[in-house]
Amino acid sequence: MRILKKSGIAVAVIGLFLAFTVFFSGCGTENGKRIVRISHAQSETHPEHLGLLKFKEYIEENLGDKYEVQIYPNELLGGAQKAIELTQTGAIDFVVAGTANLENFADVYEVFSMPYLFTSEEAYHEVMNDTAYMEQVYVSTDEAGFRVMTWYNAGTRSFYAKKPIETPEDLSGLKMRVQQSPASVNMCNAFGAAASPMSFGEVYTAIQQGVIDGAENNELALTNNKHGEVAKYYSYNKHQMVPDMLIGNLKFLEGLSEEEYEIFREAALLSTEEEMKYWDEQVEEAKQIAENEMGVTFIDVDVQLFKNKVSDVQQEMLDANESIRGLYEHIQEVNAKYIGNE
Ligand code: GCU
Repeated sequence: MRILKKSGIAVAVIGLFLAFTVFFSGCGTENGKRIVRISHAQSETHPEHLGLLKFKEYIEENLGDKYEVQIYPNELLGGAQKAIELTQTGAIDFVVAGTANLENFADVYEVFSMPYLFTSEEAYHEVMNDTAYMEQVYVSTDEAGFRVMTWYNAGTRSFYAKKPIETPEDLSGLKMRVQQSPASVNMCNAFGAAASPMSFGEVYTAIQQGVIDGAENNELALTNNKHGEVAKYYSYNKHQMVPDMLIGNLKFLEGLSEEEYEIFREAALLSTEEEMKYWDEQVEEAKQIAENEMGVTFIDVDVQLFKNKVSDVQQEMLDANESIRGLYEHIQEVNAKYIGNE
């Protein structure tokens, strides 16, 4: 524990230093090259980091005389909200953040926080891999000064806690961390829990210190982010598939020549392909490690009971936010193709 604490402090100090340097140097040039900075919240073994290495490789292979890509993992430059702000102002160029964090900039992204939106993984992947369709959605944050370039799979989210959750009733009264998004707060409260929004990096300590009882995420959070050390029960209620997005500062993107923009776009798509290659195997690995080395119990629950508990939420969200309707209906059409794969 002492080691963990010490390394936590070291990470925070390095992070502060980097944030300071990045902030004051702006988007610098080094050795005549424009430094392209990317921030993300995951560890260096996470599929997203591996995808971003591909992004870096492709850019530097094709435009290496002009650009050098630097990747900052582990929220070193700040949590998602902070890093999005840095991308908005152009202090950094790209950030990877979940759609939950984009809701305050473009409310169409609320749709992904709907519980049980996608009825199968196949439908989820088909919708997200339909680049021509999604690019119409990706421009919706242009006014806020940034644009989504591509998506990354962030798996299926389920609840995990210090106590076993077998039915929705077990959630009643539990304080559960959700992402900092109004729709995620509503969803969690609809399950009967007390939603506690906070940034990803704060979750470990909050569970450890008993500030919250648990959280909800994909399996990698147990291992990559060590949450399995402090929360020993993971319940497969599978309430959301929330994608992560690679977001770029709009001025930077618009300042690229057409050819350069095309290379950045190709690099983004390649990074998604690369990330997806690792996802399933890393989830399997995370389950093994969590179960065998961390003592986490995985619980298969009756998902239908959880669905019933939040069955009104989709309609309520549609009634409250007209801008999600088009994408919602599109997703329903794709869902229908995969009926039986749930
Ligand atoms: C996942 C997701 C992140 C997100 C995090 C969270 O790890 O990939 O983008 O920030 O969950 O719950 O905050």
